[in-house]
Amino acid sequence: MNKLINGQLPPYHAVITGYGSFVPAKTLTNEELAKMVDTSDEWITTRTGIKVRHITTDNESTAFLATEAAKRALVEANLDAGDVEIIIVATITPEMVFPSTASFVQKNLGAKKAWVFDLAAACSGFVYGLSIAQQFIESGRFKNALVIGAETLTKIADWTDRTSCVLFGDGAGAVVLEQSNGRRGSILYSTMHSDGERWEALNCQAYGSRYPSAKPLDNPKKIYMQISGREVYQQAIRRIVETVNHCLDHCDLTLDDIAMLISHQMNARIIESVAKRLNLPDEKVFLNINEYGNTSAASVPIAFDECVRKGKIKRGDIVVLVAFGAGLTWGANIIEF
Ligand code: ACO
Repeated sequence: MNKLINGQLPPYHAVITGYGSFVPAKTLTNEELAKMVDTSDEWITTRTGIKVRHITTDNESTAFLATEAAKRALVEANLDAGDVEIIIVATITPEMVFPSTASFVQKNLGAKKAWVFDLAAACSGFVYGLSIAQQFIESGRFKNALVIGAETLTKIADWTDRTSCVLFGDGAGAVVLEQSNGRRGSILYSTMHSDGERWEALNCQAYGSRYPSAKPLDNPKKIYMQISGREVYQQAIRRIVETVNHCLDHCDLTLDDIAMLISHQMNARIIESVAKRLNLPDEKVFLNINEYGNTSAASVPIAFDECVRKGKIKRGDIVVLVAFGAGLTWGANIIEF
């Protein structure tokens, strides 16, 4: 293993001991979407790689999805909910304005010992969350953390706008991080970035303090997500490539050391362009957007869970988690699985 990582690792490691995901049972295919807006399976498939997405019913909320994913991760980690110390829920579609979605997850799990909070970094939220939990564990102050990415984006999608509604799906993914003296399964390095100047590229403006619910909106569309698809497309490729190269450089790794790139699933074409620019072969790039669409903060942990369960990565492999989203935000975690 490379010298730099060995030289920089702290005495405590944040090790992934459990992982799990959950998506709603209800699905929406491209063919079904084509009956709702002027689109086609052919357009959606060739432009995005998406074939189907899972969508919540009125009775299914973000905290429900988050709780189900968390339960699976806790079982895998063999950790009792009552022993969880920190719960972080990365989401931009929270249960309500307050309290946090994490408060509901704590209640649902019976994780009485934990302190909990939500993290709003859009599609980068889970990667940010892992980085934060990593710091708490490496400091020696906490022994474990439950990090969840959970979203119900279909509840803020404009189902009359074909340019955006075809892109999204609902779901949740979770990991348990535990303190260890051994490095197997640990997060080796995390890097996080933001560019608030470009906030307008991806946003949902109602109902925060700028446009409170009691005040009439100047544009009723502000209750939905607005995206500048082209700008996001270009920025995402640039930032993801930049971030992966930075991680490799910082950790003294080469592309040959990477067993799998698990990117936020926003568009298969974006991920394919990233892989091409990095010169990564197809078998080292995980893609599951065809089945889920873009699930924002849930996308990386769902992909990670699926990747492990399909046997595409094995213990000891170097895995890169990378994400890009609204804010703008972007970041990556390097894991020795
Ligand atoms: N079906 C059919 N035609 C469509 C559809 C659709 N669903 N959507 C757009 N079109 C049309 C457009 O109207 C346009 O027609 P025109 O040339 O007659 O004006 C044409 O297709 C091309 O549109 P573009 O926007 O140029 O298409 P592009 O190839 O850029 O793909 C896409 C659009 C898929 C949105 C791409 O830009 C993208 O993936 N961007 C990033 C996605 C993104 O922002 N993700 C983050 C979401 S936010 C979050 O995750 C929280």
